[in-house]
Amino acid sequence: MRTIIEPFKIKSVEPIFFTSKEERVKILEEAFYNPFLIHSNKVLIDLLTDSGTSAMSSDQWAGIMRGDESYAGSPSFFRFEAAVKNITGMPLVIPTHQGRASEKILFSILGGKGKYFISNTLFDTTRANIEFSGAEGVDCLCKEGKLPTVPAPFKGNMDLELLEKTIQEKGAENIPLVIITVTNNSGGGQPVSMANIKAVRKICTTYNIPLFIDACRFAENSYFIKLREDGYQNTSVENIAKELFSYADGCTMSAKKDAFANIGGFLAMNDPALAQQCRNLLVITEGFPTYGGLAGRDLEAIAIGLVEVLDENYLQYRIRSIEYLTNKLIDAGVPVMQPAGGHAVYLDAKGFLDHIPVDQYPGQALVGALYLEGGIRGVEIGSLMFGKYDDNGKLIPAQMELVRLAIPRRVYTQSHIDYVAEVIIEVYQNRKQFKGLTIVEEAPLLRHFTVKMKPSTN
Ligand code: F0G
Repeated sequence: MRTIIEPFKIKSVEPIFFTSKEERVKILEEAFYNPFLIHSNKVLIDLLTDSGTSAMSSDQWAGIMRGDESYAGSPSFFRFEAAVKNITGMPLVIPTHQGRASEKILFSILGGKGKYFISNTLFDTTRANIEFSGAEGVDCLCKEGKLPTVPAPFKGNMDLELLEKTIQEKGAENIPLVIITVTNNSGGGQPVSMANIKAVRKICTTYNIPLFIDACRFAENSYFIKLREDGYQNTSVENIAKELFSYADGCTMSAKKDAFANIGGFLAMNDPALAQQCRNLLVITEGFPTYGGLAGRDLEAIAIGLVEVLDENYLQYRIRSIEYLTNKLIDAGVPVMQPAGGHAVYLDAKGFLDHIPVDQYPGQALVGALYLEGGIRGVEIGSLMFGKYDDNGKLIPAQMELVRLAIPRRVYTQSHIDYVAEVIIEVYQNRKQFKGLTIVEEAPLLRHFTVKMKPSTN
């Protein structure tokens, strides 16, 4: 088989920033070992997130010029609305400035004390918005999804038995929504199968609970279904995506992922009464319903991106490029989440830095090591992001200690990725020299964004 090439040519380039190791020692210390506090012009390869970091196409840039900035009834809104309706089949489309703005609106309306939202795994902003409303989030991820190094085709699936048990325990009347995150970002970017979505739909129907999709990476998930699920090999990814959405009553979306936009999001749904409530909140928080939190030009970029992302040459390259890096690491014995996910490589920090106890945050220590050795910026998805404290102030660790290296869409080439593999392998070979970290200062919600840390002394 021939090499799967980047399905684009490059018209405009941006600099990347080289620093010396001596400089990075200082930068890391001044950033309190928190990658979010490092200035991006001190990062060589930035894998902090695939969100809002995509390279837009020449068509999208053309759309930016076409954007109509009318306050009400802009044609850019109607193009955006048509694109979202076409894929989701949902008639009510509400633009927001990004995914968490959709979440804030939805959970302010449906959340509150005594309510529970069940998911395969809630992303951190989703969980935070649920908890901020006074409600609780419950993750019911399938068993294989919690075992980083055990490969399975659909490790993002919901545990159906646990879902039903949780519904019975909490009471269906206290569960405003079940939410399936595709792909499961916090669990390794792993896909959810169509069979699982259908089965969740059936359970939701039985208990009369609406089903929503957190659709950030719907195209990547749909492509995995085409590759891995029986009966879909000859179905277009567009039709797979349409089928996936057909089982849901609504969705939240961050257009910063699978719409190749630098900003944007939306809510889409079938229920007019709920949509009305959402729009009422939208006008006081985001904006008028035909622009939400966005400029007309952003609406154009999203409308075009939603079409481009379903191009199967693009998706083949996208999924293959993540697998390429994952396989290089597996071949070198580096512990990584298997199989490769859709948008990122997830290092298993517990296995990688097995000399660092979980209360010294091996994931964050590994993030620091990758920056120090190669100027690469990743993010911890482990006990720093999801850990809680018990009544005695002892850390209740997360299920997994992962480091995510998220690959921005259409941004880096194969040689960038080869460099990343070389650095990770080198860090792995010298892993014993890296130390754990201790928290100096932290916020009560989403602490990983602002946390200050220092190297542990023992
Ligand atoms: N849901 C999922 C599954 C996400 O991955 C994100 C964002 C959101 C919701 C919120 O969207 O950022 O537009 O407000 N994930 C980014 C990331 C931040 O790095 O994975 P947003």
